[in-house]
Amino acid sequence: MIARRVRELGTFCEILPYETRWDSLSQQPSAVILTGGPESVTVPGSPDVDPAVLQSGVPILGICYGMQLLAREFGGELVKLDRPEYGPAMLTVTESRSPFFASVPERSRVWMSHGDSVVRLPPGFAALASTERCKVAAMGDAQRRIYGVQFHPEVAHTEYGRAMLENFLRRIAALPPDWGMESFVETAIEDIRERVGGRRAICALSGGVDSAVAATLVAKAVGEQLTCVFVNHGLLRKNEVEEVVGAFHDVLHLDVRVVDARERFLHALAGAEDPERKRVIIGHEFIRVFEEAAADVPGVELLVQGTLYPDVIESKTPQSKAGHKIKSHHNVGGLPEEMRLELLEPLRSLFKDEVRRVGRVLGLPESIVGRQPFPGPGLAVRIIGEVTPERLRVVREADAIVRHEIDAAPLDPHPWQYFAVLTPVRSVGVMGDGRTYANLVAVRAITSEDGMTADWARLPADLLERISARIVNEVPGVNRVAYDITSKPPATVEWE
Ligand code: XMP
Repeated sequence: MIARRVRELGTFCEILPYETRWDSLSQQPSAVILTGGPESVTVPGSPDVDPAVLQSGVPILGICYGMQLLAREFGGELVKLDRPEYGPAMLTVTESRSPFFASVPERSRVWMSHGDSVVRLPPGFAALASTERCKVAAMGDAQRRIYGVQFHPEVAHTEYGRAMLENFLRRIAALPPDWGMESFVETAIEDIRERVGGRRAICALSGGVDSAVAATLVAKAVGEQLTCVFVNHGLLRKNEVEEVVGAFHDVLHLDVRVVDARERFLHALAGAEDPERKRVIIGHEFIRVFEEAAADVPGVELLVQGTLYPDVIESKTPQSKAGHKIKSHHNVGGLPEEMRLELLEPLRSLFKDEVRRVGRVLGLPESIVGRQPFPGPGLAVRIIGEVTPERLRVVREADAIVRHEIDAAPLDPHPWQYFAVLTPVRSVGVMGDGRTYANLVAVRAITSEDGMTADWARLPADLLERISARIVNEVPGVNRVAYDITSKPPATVEWE
């Protein structure tokens, strides 16, 4: 979140593990931010930082744990609080002349989350702000341009957090706002041209934003040296293949080969009910189909992938510290090592919102850039149990109704993702004069920023009623509709 905020403010920023040695960096950073963390600096063996970073002379901002680390390393004193301070607090700026608090009112709301507190400032530092429970809520050494805040400026709950980060970047570190997607696109195109030279590249398009933006960027750089393959696995939403392929051909003028593999995927999925097994089958089948298509492109040496920065950070995180795997994400695009193609990942330094902005700079239509996230294994994860042509038809039709009705509704905020799930539950109903015994469809609509956490969308009752009535009337095989009112956690977004 800190990195995203910094980039939103127009300064490029990279996330590095705390063990990073200052002398191992190929380029000296213009400023350093030390982040928060759940550990306590008073416990031996807790994460610290290469002393060379602190002696480097570049401006430093320590946030929460980062500030405590600065306090300890520069000779201050910390104590453990009897009980941690967590949640909102009122900040009083006591040193309003500090550039860190320029344009920040004397009193404002901040978000706290800490168990240790600075009780004696290191030499050279001054206290800049306090809260009721935390005497040193901010400290700074203007001479050395080193600052620390006990609260979290990166979260929305800190009213003036953005202004404070901006003050650090502009007023303290004197960094110009020079990171933007226009300049990214220019540099990326040059880099791609140089990397690719006269060679041929191939890209698997999924219909999703990432692969579309990656392919368009490469196509802008090397034109016809790029071939795109779109595997139609038959698990996409209503009209999606036509829309996506149409956009690639007509709007983006990409060279796209569409492979109709619908039968093949259905056949491979026959009898599979377990969600993980379905994901694995789809992943494997996708790779096989893509390999065959790639074999038809003579002399291809490079594989374009829409890998994003969060994937890069995650893969660098030591296993022991990584989160538990909840579901495997078999994205179309995660391709086999046996193919021995050199990877070209032009988006690997970008966050998702930056990728969407790059897409807009490149002129991609809103239908692609603004697309809802959609799992690689497609509707297979929205059918609980076996995937059959009949069940695909039901979920596809129900999903089209959910999307159509929600798209047409004036909602604020507009839900982040919404879809239908076909459950294997059957129940009794009555339609016309007859008794029915048919399936239950669940409707899921969530608000979220990134899919990591989510809340169920408070859709108006009349909208829910329209969705329900239309599904039951228009989709044979469904006689009951339920609305999912669980947040994530404890539930996930997809039912699987
Ligand atoms: P869950 O169900 O894990 O989903 O709470 C979080 C977000 O990720 C999407 N999702 C996927 N996206 N490949 C993807 O690209 C996948 O395999 C996949 N599975 C889930 C999901 O739609 C939600 O937005």
